[in-house]
Amino acid sequence: MDKPRVVLGVSGGIAAYKACELLRRLTESGHDVRVVPTASALHFVGAATWSALSGNPVSTEVWDDVHEVPHVRIGQHADLVVVAPATADMLAKAAHGLADDLLTNTLLTARCPVVFAPAMHTEMWEHPATQENVATLRRRGAVVVEPAVGRLTGVDTGKGRLPEPAEIFEVCRRVLARGVTEPDLKGRHVVVSAGGTREPLDPVRFLGNRSSGKQGYALARTAAARGARVTLVAANTGLPDPAGVDVVQVGTAVQLREAVLKAAADADAVVMAAAVADFRPAAYAAGKIKKKDDQEPEPIVLVRNPDILAEVSADRAHPGQVIVGFAAETDDVLANGRAKLARKGCDLLVVNEVGERKTFGSEENEAVVLGAEGTETPVPHGPKEALAEIVWDLVVRRFG
Ligand code: CTP
Repeated sequence: MDKPRVVLGVSGGIAAYKACELLRRLTESGHDVRVVPTASALHFVGAATWSALSGNPVSTEVWDDVHEVPHVRIGQHADLVVVAPATADMLAKAAHGLADDLLTNTLLTARCPVVFAPAMHTEMWEHPATQENVATLRRRGAVVVEPAVGRLTGVDTGKGRLPEPAEIFEVCRRVLARGVTEPDLKGRHVVVSAGGTREPLDPVRFLGNRSSGKQGYALARTAAARGARVTLVAANTGLPDPAGVDVVQVGTAVQLREAVLKAAADADAVVMAAAVADFRPAAYAAGKIKKKDDQEPEPIVLVRNPDILAEVSADRAHPGQVIVGFAAETDDVLANGRAKLARKGCDLLVVNEVGERKTFGSEENEAVVLGAEGTETPVPHGPKEALAEIVWDLVVRRFG
């Protein structure tokens, strides 16, 4: 099978250097990438870098290799065009159909999905001209990723940062796999918990688990891409905030419960992907616990943590609220999963088989999604994004 053909358009902003990382992710995951920078982009990153990293020729103007009619062919043959960073000027040109260089010509000839990842100063992003251009592009079917909030060029911070290359890459992968879909979670508020809780013993030690949080982040990111307002309750993940998602950082199970219950009050769905400690140390030592050479260690006494999934399932904010749990099982996966679904009272339970090398920290997952009515949806081995999409498909079906 031919590699999917991606055009990476780069316009002239300082974030152009981050597009090198996006390019590397695209090529390493088996895409044939043609980089089309604007002339101003080359002030930031030179043609040699784009050419070496992509393994393809690089030009900015329509006058190179004219016999190959590049201004038409590159766009016509692409499976996806992604412009990262997209400057305010590039969004304006694209919205108005201007075509004065190779990238803008490519945007006019492309019939495939187009993704723009804007990066600019907050004032430029918020200017009505830019906002109207973004609305025009979205109305025509382009995906315009929301800029991230954070440090901008110079000392100022605000909205307008290019989302992390990993985030843009996931958007590209999703659009290539599913096309530009209707935002079927538009108008919905969903809550996702992710990561693993840490239960402190003293100021330097805790009881924790090996959950990376990647599955929960994939759920948050895909829900945002499908139009939802997303609250992500993140426990100890250290992962970058997904673009356009409201992230609440927590540490312990008790804090996670508080954040989830608060966000769940007006939520349409709650997905508990976090690995929540079932027990916490009964006592917290305000000072570091010291070893005593002549004494055996003190046993650690544990007390139960609240079962948040069971609680949100029992006390739903409204009857139509959909609750999803996750279960990691080592044996009798389906039977244990069924019993857990009934015990917790949720609508869907995503059951993974876990072991030493399975699931934890990996980019991939394999699961069965059990439904309260007895349905079973197997999800083949694949990216955590793919499992996330299936979970949202099943949730949307329950919304009716
Ligand atoms: N969960 C929760 N609160 C807890 C423990 C777990 O909300 N105190 C949620 C997890 O987020 C997950 C689901 O419950 O969605 C399954 O968690 P798991 O730890 O596997 O369930 P347990 O009831 O602890 O079952 P067991 O220990 O028997 O495997």
